[in-house]
Amino acid sequence: MTYTPEMLELIKVVEATRPQRMHQKFPSMSLEERDKVLHGFHPDFLPEGFRKVRVGPGKGGEMPNELADLVEGRPLIGPDFDLSNPDFETDVLVIGGGGAGASAALLAQEGGAKVTLVTKLRFGDANTMMAQGGIQAADRPEDSPPIHYLDVIGGGHFDNLPELVEALVNDAPVVIQWLENLGVMFDKTPDGTMMEEHGGGTSRKRMHSSRDYSGAEIMRTLRDEVRNRPNVEVIEFCPAVELVLDESGKIAGAVLYNLETERYFFAKAKAVVLATGGGGRLHYQGFPTTNHYGATADGIVMAYRVGGEPLFLDTMQYHPTGAAYPEQILGQLVTEKVRGLGAQPVNLKGEQFVYPLEPRDVEAAAFIRECKERNLGIPTPTGQPAVWLDSPLIEMIQGPGTVEKALPAMVRQFKRFNIDIAKLPMLVYPTLHYQNGGIRIDADCRTKIPGLFIGGEVSGGVHGRNRLMGNSLLDVCVFGRRAGKTAADYIGQGVTLSKPTLQHLVIWNKELDEAGINGAVQSPILLPNYTRKG
Ligand code: FUM
Repeated sequence: MTYTPEMLELIKVVEATRPQRMHQKFPSMSLEERDKVLHGFHPDFLPEGFRKVRVGPGKGGEMPNELADLVEGRPLIGPDFDLSNPDFETDVLVIGGGGAGASAALLAQEGGAKVTLVTKLRFGDANTMMAQGGIQAADRPEDSPPIHYLDVIGGGHFDNLPELVEALVNDAPVVIQWLENLGVMFDKTPDGTMMEEHGGGTSRKRMHSSRDYSGAEIMRTLRDEVRNRPNVEVIEFCPAVELVLDESGKIAGAVLYNLETERYFFAKAKAVVLATGGGGRLHYQGFPTTNHYGATADGIVMAYRVGGEPLFLDTMQYHPTGAAYPEQILGQLVTEKVRGLGAQPVNLKGEQFVYPLEPRDVEAAAFIRECKERNLGIPTPTGQPAVWLDSPLIEMIQGPGTVEKALPAMVRQFKRFNIDIAKLPMLVYPTLHYQNGGIRIDADCRTKIPGLFIGGEVSGGVHGRNRLMGNSLLDVCVFGRRAGKTAADYIGQGVTLSKPTLQHLVIWNKELDEAGINGAVQSPILLPNYTRKG
């Protein structure tokens, strides 16, 4: 398969305007223009996509309908589940096998704790593994953590929790050094200087990458390191379904579900680090997603039931450039790095219609506007809306061979369908990418529940209402590390648990009954449901 003859005709329009566009500097939007396009076209501003949650610590707050349904779900186990005989006991139970979980496991182990990391699928099946473009850190003379800070809160609409942003940007250079020492191979110039690019909404070039396999390279390294550490055990295919408290309200472990034996069992722990990632597989508002198969918002569901406070869960990230064609790769990530290297978004008339590196939410809204309001999207055989991402510009600007060298994952993704992205533009459209909000933490990843620490996408606050590119790989490392360290410190102070209990489920079920929520939804769902409806 390749482009249809009709598409190839339309590409001629793109080619005709390319030489002139190459020299044109498209202006970025004013704050008023950004506001207008966001309110008019970003899915976060579609009221029908959201509803108020009727129970729990975030009662009255808005969440996407699909998430609200799960958050209001009935537990998979009853309050009388037998906790008298734990299957194993550990100091720190890390729930989640992505970048945050792995980082937490390493730092908890370094802090002297016995660590057990449990993961729903294989260790490394996580959004970290699928991240492409890079990781931000202000480590050049013309840059600084305070400048990085300003970019982060500007991108987040100034709603970010300042102490979290401070932690993020200050730890960033340390994290890059840490990753490199562990073995991550970052892109460098021949003299050994890190190659750093712009991402959307960044005022300095600070995106460190490993080609467009940045997440895979980081995850590979962290996973190897965890596997090689003493006192860290990894258990795969055993997602958590419920957190367990002791009678005084301290965390006491979790009930896990063995996907192979289909048996629930209790893992007792003095501390839990929750690092279960986001919920792209809930396909909010029908969007396709870049997320891995297990991204079903389990962490939000579990933390919420024990009193975790939700923050900014009414805002989700739609990455501007998901693949829109061919159908087989619908919604898969086309890294922002493509635009960082010079590719332009182009409409049916061959016009560039938006500055390529607006903050993500603004860029995505502009793509939707181009198709829905201006009617200048590119027709596709399935009716999927799309705009061009004019990737051949990259080599005109950066020189021959750049695409293959800097974007090997993208080249392969499209080559499977006989599309050479160095010569032909790609078809793209926004795709569900990230959970901007989550459960509130402090800068050391503490929650309101003693012994429950959270790192990575399941936490909320650091990105405000819109995360910038490259701050997620950074977030999982910074807050994964902090969560692991805080958990080890917590245990080091001496934790004595009283009787483990699921009493909070009695209260939860009563609250559901009183709110008249008697539907059949049970949560967490663990895996997405792709069975045909109707
Ligand atoms: O476009 C990207 O490569 C995505 C990066 C991110 O979400 O941080």
